[in-house]
Amino acid sequence: MTVTGDARVAGVIGWPVAHSLSPLMHGYWLAQHGIDGAYVPLRVRPEQLEVALRALPALGFRGANVTVPHKEAALKIMGRADATAKRIGAVNTLIVAGDGMLEGRNTDGYGFIENLRAGVPGFDAARGPAVVLGAGGAARAVVAALIDAGAPEIRVANRTAARAGILVRDLGAPCVAIAWESREAALAGAALLVNTTSLGMTGQPPLSLDLGMLPGDAVVNDIVYAPLATSLLAAARARGNPTADGLGMLLYQAVPGFEAWFGVRPAVTEELRFAVLAGGA
Ligand code: ATR
Repeated sequence: MTVTGDARVAGVIGWPVAHSLSPLMHGYWLAQHGIDGAYVPLRVRPEQLEVALRALPALGFRGANVTVPHKEAALKIMGRADATAKRIGAVNTLIVAGDGMLEGRNTDGYGFIENLRAGVPGFDAARGPAVVLGAGGAARAVVAALIDAGAPEIRVANRTAARAGILVRDLGAPCVAIAWESREAALAGAALLVNTTSLGMTGQPPLSLDLGMLPGDAVVNDIVYAPLATSLLAAARARGNPTADGLGMLLYQAVPGFEAWFGVRPAVTEELRFAVLAGGA
């Protein structure tokens, strides 16, 4: 693929950023569609975030993804932000608008729901209560998406109870805070279980969770994707629950940004998954 002087440019801003799979994903789509464009990793220290973001219009960037640890701080720097980003309190996708303004969006919840719709035939968030483990930025995106998709009840369990309380207060009904110690009992009658904590991720402690109370037809989703087959997903599969892994959310959240920057709505396919897994290994 050739990048000319007219290339459309976007990137991912993080600290560190070397672990990000976004350059692989966007690079795959740019090549697939033969687009004269580039998507680059941008290693930006927290204390340099504002100067880096404000430079994007001057540098001719179409926009960028924002990742750990910048998502919350980036929201405050946006000239405009959509309702979803404001509700979640974080930006993962920004667009340099025609007038040079930085427009913040959050597509993590979109990615979460689209992954379930694509990966679990007949998935319907309105079918029953959801249990969400965690209350960080990822949990806020997941819970907001579940509310919008019609979940009748969302039980939020977090190690730090106060943080679950803030999430429930901010996002409102039908969320309820559950004590971390009660997370197994909270699985009774649930139609969906989502792990948004970092537990089970490579290098982190395992997630301790007995699925005994979870109905056999409940959908289980782990947003952790390294490893791809977490012990939560393995335990769910062993007892026959339908599952969706975390890589899909990452792939789907990238779709709206790519479309906004490069003008083509890209597809999430098995080939893309293989390419990202092979490249990220
Ligand atoms: P993200 O933006 O990915 O959600 P985060 O805001 O750092 O990241 O949130 C990480 C989540 O994992 C939090 O819910 C955190 O719980 P606390 O709010 O109590 O910190 C959870 N988490 C991380 N390590 C944990 C552990 N050892 N036990 C239980 N929960 C843990």
